[in-house]
Amino acid sequence: MKFFVDTADVDAIRDLNDLGMVDGVTTNPSLILKSGRDIIEVTREICGIVSGPVSAEVVALEADAMIAEGRKLAEIAPNIAVKLPLTWDGLKACKVLTGEGRMVNVTLCFSANQALLAAKAGASFISPFIGRLDDINLDGMQLIADIRQIYDNYGFETEILAASIRTVNHVTEAAKIGADVMTAPPEVIRKLASHPLTDKGLETFLADWQKTGQKIL
Ligand code: G3P
Repeated sequence: MKFFVDTADVDAIRDLNDLGMVDGVTTNPSLILKSGRDIIEVTREICGIVSGPVSAEVVALEADAMIAEGRKLAEIAPNIAVKLPLTWDGLKACKVLTGEGRMVNVTLCFSANQALLAAKAGASFISPFIGRLDDINLDGMQLIADIRQIYDNYGFETEILAASIRTVNHVTEAAKIGADVMTAPPEVIRKLASHPLTDKGLETFLADWQKTGQKIL
């Protein structure tokens, strides 16, 4: 499973990237707002840190304007994936931009039928939002499973990018289903390393080590 980090915080990206945990980055207008930075400038900096796909989202609603914004964002670096919303105009823009050889991440996907359309429009990535479905008492993980089944039935190459991941269990479940990629905030990725039995075991080992009176260095 590829790990994308869902943030525009360059320090957090750099930290995780140094550990080899970052296969790509996803951003959106809310994350750009949170960063307090200019979209072009911060996206360029991120592309200088990470060699994998960096998603940058358009904000236009009409296909021609989305295409123009997508081309401008794609000029930032060769590893930009233009992020387009799953609307009819977004699908039209997806078809054009992928036809030009650009990576496209179709976002705000909440149904298997939407994911089917994105694959047919040539999307490189489809981003089903798990957490936001869970928020309204629907089953976000079932959507990942449905898309996996449908894409496998027909050999679609669009990668399933499990998004809106809020918990470490979301990561486990998405990996079990076979999502190609997950994108999560830095704090969720860091939490993947935590286990109370690890902490407890380490505490015991260190206490026993003290009693030996030995030193390694
Ligand atoms: O990748 C999409 C993600 O940023 C949305 O997450 O937590 O705002 O639903 P969230």
